[in-house]
Amino acid sequence: MLVFLEYNASMRNSDTAISINLLTKFYKQFKALDDISFEVKRGDFFAFLGPNGAGKTTTINVVTGLSNFQSGDVRIFGYDTRREYMNTRRLIGLCAQESNFDPYLTIHQLLVYQAEYFGLPPWQAKKRANELLERFQLSDKKNCKHRALSGGMKKRLLLCRALVHDPEILILDEPTAGCDLELKFLIWDYLTQFNQEGKTIFLTTHYMQEAEKLCKTIGIINRGKIVKFGDKKNILQDKSLEDVFLEITGTE
Ligand SMILES: Nc1ncnc2c1ncn2[C@@H]1O[C@H](COP(=O)(O)OP(=O)(O)OP(=O)(O)O)[C@@H](O)[C@H]1O
Ligand SMILES: [Mg+2]
Repeated sequence: MLVFLEYNASMRNSDTAISINLLTKFYKQFKALDDISFEVKRGDFFAFLGPNGAGKTTTINVVTGLSNFQSGDVRIFGYDTRREYMNTRRLIGLCAQESNFDPYLTIHQLLVYQAEYFGLPPWQAKKRANELLERFQLSDKKNCKHRALSGGMKKRLLLCRALVHDPEILILDEPTAGCDLELKFLIWDYLTQFNQEGKTIFLTTHYMQEAEKLCKTIGIINRGKIVKFGDKKNILQDKSLEDVFLEITGTE
């Protein structure tokens, strides 16, 4: 418990969990993010929507420090993601779009090592790993390597890994893509509870029903530009967005 307390104490007292200011990102000559700016408040449940190739994963990669960028700045609870990356990375748990696990570790070891990487002592890392595997119904696979898991189980393992260091912000890149209904509900319940504890969630999804059910705020990105941002009710009533929404829901 002590470690979590020390760890949380490193969070700067800011009401803004994620702040993106005039961010531009190129992949060689291709401008993937074009001067985007928005803020996600502490405790918000934010859905980031947009058609395939719009720039959602690129934004997440920049926010989590996995990708560099050419101009602008990105802050996590006031910390600069480039200059103060040790702080920003500890505050975020990332559930990525695709799985990227060490093939030689059991899923229990994967979670323990990830927790230890973020500074938990071994006994606490093991406890946390066991609790999450239990919560996401993976306990009977704890000594398996990740390749022995089904697609839906790998999704759950991604979520466990994102949560293992008890982050303040959970970023999820299409967490329920390809999940059956039971798993979708399991994930939705967990996310709702996590958000009710005051944690901030940043979710990308192609399922409008998911955004409608879970989130409070919606941002829409298209071709690297933010085309809409605001309260869920206002965004969903905005008829001018039908073309973009058609593209999003067309992939369901
Ligand atoms: N590593 C890369 N190198 C070059 N171009 C890239 C790279 N990653 C992404 N892109 C390009 O940047 C644009 C945005 O891609 P991104 O993955 O952010 O889209 P997305 O909104 O997450 O889409 P999806 O809904 O399909 O996951 C696309 O045109 C994509 O081809
Ligand atoms: Mg993506």
